[in-house]
Amino acid sequence: MVTAYSASESLAHVDLESTLLPERDYASRITAFPTVVQRPPLRDGKLGGLVYRDPIMFAVVQRAERIARSDASVLLRGESGTGKEVVARYIHRNSPRAGGPFVAVNCAAIPEQLLESELFGHERGAFSGAFSQRIGKLEAAQNGTILLDEISEMDRRLQAKLLRVLQEREVDRIGGRSPIRLNVRIIATTNKDLELEVTRQTFREDLYFRLNVVAVHVPRLRDRPKDIPALAEYFLEKYQWENGQASRQLSPAALSALMVHDWPGNVRELENTIHRAMVLTTDSIIGAKALEVGPLPARLPPSGHASIDYVPGFLGRKLDQVEREVIIGTLQLTGGNRTRTANMLGLSIRALRNKLNLYSTQGIEVPPSTAARTS
Ligand SMILES: Nc1ncnc2c1ncn2[C@@H]1O[C@H](COP(=O)(O)OP(=O)(O)OP(=O)(O)O)[C@@H](O)[C@H]1O
Ligand SMILES: [Mg+2]
Repeated sequence: MVTAYSASESLAHVDLESTLLPERDYASRITAFPTVVQRPPLRDGKLGGLVYRDPIMFAVVQRAERIARSDASVLLRGESGTGKEVVARYIHRNSPRAGGPFVAVNCAAIPEQLLESELFGHERGAFSGAFSQRIGKLEAAQNGTILLDEISEMDRRLQAKLLRVLQEREVDRIGGRSPIRLNVRIIATTNKDLELEVTRQTFREDLYFRLNVVAVHVPRLRDRPKDIPALAEYFLEKYQWENGQASRQLSPAALSALMVHDWPGNVRELENTIHRAMVLTTDSIIGAKALEVGPLPARLPPSGHASIDYVPGFLGRKLDQVEREVIIGTLQLTGGNRTRTANMLGLSIRALRNKLNLYSTQGIEVPPSTAARTS
């Protein structure tokens, strides 16, 4: 467990299995935390808790609870990894539909032709290859909630079909003769600027207004810093429990490293960071180095201080050294992708290559390029 903050500011942990807690009784949720430790977080993180401690997230959760009571369509916005699906599940579990199914469909991951039958279903013989009848996800979510992830990736033809579902509250299976009544709450997510997509005419304006009855913005992790230690503690417990390990703690320096990191991958990156540190170290105290956040060389302690848990920071350090750490760290973040790294840093590819060549001649290890690794 993270010990760097006092018990009184212990993390707010909302166990989605327990709907008995009085609404908005955040104090009781906070004091309920020790019992949650006795009953570890659920395995897959899907039914598991929504963890938060930052006032910004309190406001988000409060809004989600208000929305949950209605049947309005919801548009969840926010960067990748901020927890949009977690919030969607929270809305479902706190809604009158909680006893019904929660079905998630990722519109970006499924090719267009498949997405249509995935969503709407088809009758046997509706098209070549439709050997049997298939129930679509919309129908599978009957009396429950459907999460349409990355809605901006749905093509305009399917957008029109979805609009009809929202207007008529019925669904037509492909090749079906009569529409089926539908009682489903729709939650859509996007990490794109949907208004821009509307002006570009890649997203239908009428569907946008239908979906965007209420919007919830899930903030970036770096904009809700008090959530960082709370989430870190939650993931420590989660992976301790999953791996049957003894209790582990983060050192104060490790906690500082988490607090100064930018978290471009948001909560997902934090979860992976904690998981990785737990896999790679057996120490009961996890130090800053083991977290491997940001540019690795920056974590190395100055010589003569090898045992000191190094707290990263750029102030008062040589600019060329900081530049090198930022470049190599960004390269690690992109998995060695030179083009993305150059774009992220606002450098030309040529300038990036020149710097990397210089580092290599200085004997500094440079992450291999994506192309080199896959060939
Ligand atoms: N507040 C939170 N409490 C506990 N776990 C969280 C929280 N937010 C996110 N997570 C965990 O972080 C990971 C990413 O969350 P999620 O899938 O909900 O993000 P997302 O915004 O839907 O991302 P994407 O846009 O990439 O689909 C999941 O493993 C989820 O369980
Ligand atoms: Mg998601």
